Amino acid sequence: MTAHFSIRDLSVRYGMVTAVKGISLEAAKGQIISLIGANGAGKTSILRAVTGLTQPAGGEIWFDGERLDGKGTDQIVARGLAMVPEGRRIFPFMSVKDNLLMGAYRRKSGVASDLDGILTRFPRLKERFKQQAGSLSGGEQQMVAIGRALMSKPRLLLLDEPSLGIAPIIVREIARFIASINRDDGVGVILVEQNSRMALKLSSYSYVLETGKIALEGASSELAENDDVRRAYLGG
Ligand SMILES: Nc1ncnc2c1ncn2[C@@H]1O[C@H](COP(=O)(O)OP(=O)(O)O)[C@@H](O)[C@H]1O
Ligand SMILES: [Mg+2]
Repeated sequence: MTAHFSIRDLSVRYGMVTAVKGISLEAAKGQIISLIGANGAGKTSILRAVTGLTQPAGGEIWFDGERLDGKGTDQIVARGLAMVPEGRRIFPFMSVKDNLLMGAYRRKSGVASDLDGILTRFPRLKERFKQQAGSLSGGEQQMVAIGRALMSKPRLLLLDEPSLGIAPIIVREIARFIASINRDDGVGVILVEQNSRMALKLSSYSYVLETGKIALEGASSELAENDDVRRAYLGG
């Protein structure tokens, strides 16, 4: 087991439905990989299995030399994984500040300086620091959700469709932010997207998922040139 993060032959089942059918993938330390697939392909099921929210029907999940499958979400977060769930799930009636602090609930030291770091990188959040998070735009809420996940100081960040329903200009801002935390802090990223333009640009390696299986994988720059990928995921 040499990769920093790896999934081996993972399956996820819901009753009669097998949503993930024996997929394997890996990421090096500090790498950005992307997982691209249409609605229903099994992307969220994979992330939920990785974070212990869903128990896999089979397979293994490894991170930094330790097996994660079978462990609880709390233990997994303590080992340095954090997820930004689909649909963001911020706390709408809490301030931006309190949402961000929720991400640091298990830490006692360094919280103020980490908060500063996030506000420096997301000036929009600084301007709206005391506002109720539910009053922000979708893109700004996504920034809150990412900032909250980062407050747990992850080494690997899982992002479930961060660009869904967000204006393109904000998507670019979020993309720059993801690139900067990866570059400056060495945080690895698993980026899950339907809209693969940003995902292929940000990541170095990508997996294309179709009905629970990996249909295609390769260097993101090469997949971006692939005609099938262009037709199916880049709008021609
Ligand atoms: N809680 C659930 N119960 C039953 N089926 C589910 C559940 N969650 C997801 N599924 C099914 O599993 C498949 C994969 O879903 P999901 O992992 O959410 O895909 P994606 O994130 O790529 O859209 C879909 O067919 C979906 O209907
Ligand atoms: Mg999903």
